[in-house]
Amino acid sequence: MTRDEIIHWPDALQTELDSARGLLCRITVLRETDSTQDAARWIGATVGDVIVAGRQTHGRGRLGSAWADTEEQGIAMTFVLPREQGERYAFASAVAAAMAVESLVGDTAQIAIKWPNDIYANGRKLAGILIEQHDEFAHIGIGMNISQRIWPNELTGRTVSLAELYADVTRLDAQRALLRTINDVLEWPAPRLAKAYHARHLLRDQVVEFQLGAETCAGRVVGLCIERGLEVETDSGMQWLPAAKTRVIVRLPSDRADGRRLS
Ligand code: BTN
Repeated sequence: MTRDEIIHWPDALQTELDSARGLLCRITVLRETDSTQDAARWIGATVGDVIVAGRQTHGRGRLGSAWADTEEQGIAMTFVLPREQGERYAFASAVAAAMAVESLVGDTAQIAIKWPNDIYANGRKLAGILIEQHDEFAHIGIGMNISQRIWPNELTGRTVSLAELYADVTRLDAQRALLRTINDVLEWPAPRLAKAYHARHLLRDQVVEFQLGAETCAGRVVGLCIERGLEVETDSGMQWLPAAKTRVIVRLPSDRADGRRLS
C-alpha cells in the first residue's frame, strides 16, 4: 500500500471536485476530528461543502451506534447538501458508495447494498452511511474501510477493508472515487437511481423482518420508492419503510411473511 500523504489531499480533492462541476464544490481537510458530522456543524459548512478527516476518532453510526476510530486506515467524509424530504439521499449515497467501491475493486469482490445504505463486499461490511438533517442542511456521512487488517473483537468476521479484498488503493484514491460517483449520482433521475439500487440490493426479493420504532413488520422486499422508502409486500398490503428509522432484524425463511401492519 502506498503511503498516504495527507498534505496533498486538499489540492488533489479540490481538483477532483472542480473537474466534476457538480453540487459538491468545496473541500475542507481536517487532520483529526471527533466526527466529520459534528465538524460540518462547528465550521458552519453550507451546501456544496465536503469535510474530510485524516483521522476520525469518535464517529457516529446509524440508530445510535458508533463508527470505529478510522486511525489512518479508513476514510471519513461528510457531504453537505440542501435539506430534503423523502428518501432520495439514502438511495443516492448508497449507490454512489457502491459504484466507487466497484471502480476500486473491479471484479475481485461481490459488492452489494444492504438496506438502507450499508455497503457489503463478499458478505462483510465495507462502508456505512449516516444521514442527519440540521437546519436547512442534510449531512451525508460516509465511512469506508481501506487498509485495516486487524479489527476490534466485536467487528472481527463482520467487516472487511479494501486491502483485505486485495485492492491496493490509497485513502486518496478512495476519496476521489467517492467524489466522482456522488456528484454524478446525485443528479440522476429517480427511475435510474431506483434501478441501480435495486440491482445491487442484498435483500432484493428476500423475506425480512424490520423494526420501525417500537413496531415490527415482516414481508418480501419487492422494490423501492424514491419518495417513500423500501417497498415491502406483507400479507396485509404494501408497506414503505423509511431509511432513517428502519432496522433489519432478521431474515426469515421465505415462506413466512406474517405481515403485521405498521400503524
Ligand atoms: C453506519 O454504518 O451505521 C453508519 C456509519 C457512518 C460513519 C460515517 S464516517 C463519516 C461520518 N462521520 C461520522 O461520525 N459518521 C459518518
